[in-house]
Amino acid sequence: MRVALDQVGHRFTTQNWLFRHLTYSFDEGTTTAVTGPSGSGKSTLLAIIAGSLAPTEGQVNRTAAGRVRWVFQNPLGVPRRSAIDHVVLPYLAQGTSRKTARCRALDTLELFDLLGVADRLFADLSGGEAQRLMLARAVASTPDLLLVDEPTAQLDRHAAETVASVLSATAVSGAAVIVATHDPLARQACGSIVDLSDHAG
Ligand SMILES: Nc1ncnc2c1ncn2[C@@H]1O[C@H](COP(=O)(O)OP(=O)(O)OP(=O)(O)O)[C@@H](O)[C@H]1O
Ligand SMILES: [Mg+2]
Repeated sequence: MRVALDQVGHRFTTQNWLFRHLTYSFDEGTTTAVTGPSGSGKSTLLAIIAGSLAPTEGQVNRTAAGRVRWVFQNPLGVPRRSAIDHVVLPYLAQGTSRKTARCRALDTLELFDLLGVADRLFADLSGGEAQRLMLARAVASTPDLLLVDEPTAQLDRHAAETVASVLSATAVSGAAVIVATHDPLARQACGSIVDLSDHAG
C-alpha cells in the first residue's frame, strides 16, 4: 500500500502547529524512519498515516485498501495468554490449520529471538520481549502498511539489530514500513528519513 501526504500539517485545538507542509510518499517495499524530539508529533503522524486521525490541513492519499498494522509505543497483549498464542492467531485468521499455524508462529518467534519464551504468559514477559512479540504478531499478519512506534526503546543492541533486520525483510515482501524512532540504529536500518524538526510549524 502506498500512502502519499500532500502539504499535511497538524495541531491539537489550542496548541501550536506540531508540523506543517509535510509532502511525502511512503511507498511499497520501503522502510522510512520518522524522527524528531519527544513531543514533536511522531505518534500523531503515524495516526494520520494509519487514517485514524484527520490532519488539520493537507491531504492523505492511499493507493488501495489493505491490511494496516500498528504496533503501539506501549505493548498491549493479552496478559493470561502465552506468547505463542499471540502469533498463532493471525495465522489462524488467514485460514491455516492449527498445526501449520503453530509451526509458522514458531518460525516467526525464532526470527525475533523469542523461541525461549514461547510458552510464557504475556504478563510475565519483560518489556523488551513484550515489544518484540507485538512486532512478531504484526509481521505474522502480512500487513500492506506497517506502522511501528519506538520499536527499539526497550531493547539492547542485539535485540534492536534483530528488529531492524526483520523490519527491512517485511518491506522486501512488499509492505510500506514506517518506524517512529529516536534510535540511531533503527534509523540506519531504514531506507529514508522524515525528520519532523525540518517541518516544525
Ligand atoms: N489527543 C491529543 N490532544 C491534545 N494534545 C495531544 C493529543 N495527542 C498528543 N498531543 C500532544 O501533541 C504533542 C505530540 O505528541 P506525540 O505523541 O505525537 O509526540 P511524539 O513525537 O510521538 O513524542 P514521543 O517521542 O515522546 O513519543 C505532545 O505535546 C502531546 O502532548
Ligand atoms: Mg510517540
